[in-house]
Amino acid sequence: MQASAFRRALLRWFRRSGRDLPWRRTRDPYHILVSEFMLQQTQVSRVEGYYRRFIERYPTIGALASASPAMVRESWEGLGYYRRVENLHRLARNVVRDRQGVIPSDPVELRRLPGVGRYTAGAVASFAYERPTAAVDTNVARVLRRAFLPRLGRGASLTQWIWNTAEEIIPRRGKTAWAFNQALMELGALICTAREARCGVCPVRKVCATGKRVNSKR
Ligand code: ADE
Repeated sequence: MQASAFRRALLRWFRRSGRDLPWRRTRDPYHILVSEFMLQQTQVSRVEGYYRRFIERYPTIGALASASPAMVRESWEGLGYYRRVENLHRLARNVVRDRQGVIPSDPVELRRLPGVGRYTAGAVASFAYERPTAAVDTNVARVLRRAFLPRLGRGASLTQWIWNTAEEIIPRRGKTAWAFNQALMELGALICTAREARCGVCPVRKVCATGKRVNSKR
């Protein structure tokens, strides 16, 4: 599969059609972390308002660290999955206590923080620090599966295949990798959805294994 043609088509589409979301206008690692914790189990449309209010109330990691657990939980009221906000609060306190409030940029270091798994570590490294690192959530995994159709041998893991593929095709330049990761998520959210692949309107259908099949059936 031609990774470079896939990248080019996806990036061109994202530049034209990507949504202007508040966490795409910042590189503040703490703000990115807040957005990623919220987006872990909640849709973009619901997160936007919560994100703005949360950042207004706790503009810095220091402000969050020194707030009371009850106050912080109240700011999350309605979003659900309260383990997320407990972890976020603990993370803020740990980073202020142990790291002078500086969120690490290395995915390995990031994963040591409460509530930060492989996806969130990659997302913060890429979206805040513009490191060329893969960030695979369920949307991205679906896009990659459909675009590159894995042929797994016996004993091979799909998760491993997906992460390897994401690392292989990511642009080397950090700024381009930032846009590429955002674009993969955007395609999964808007076009290549779980319910329906919508290949007829997809910007990468000509360089996608699933898109080509659909085209050749016409
Ligand atoms: N879901 C997780 N991270 C996201 C982002 N940066 N933009 C849109 N949806 C997301």
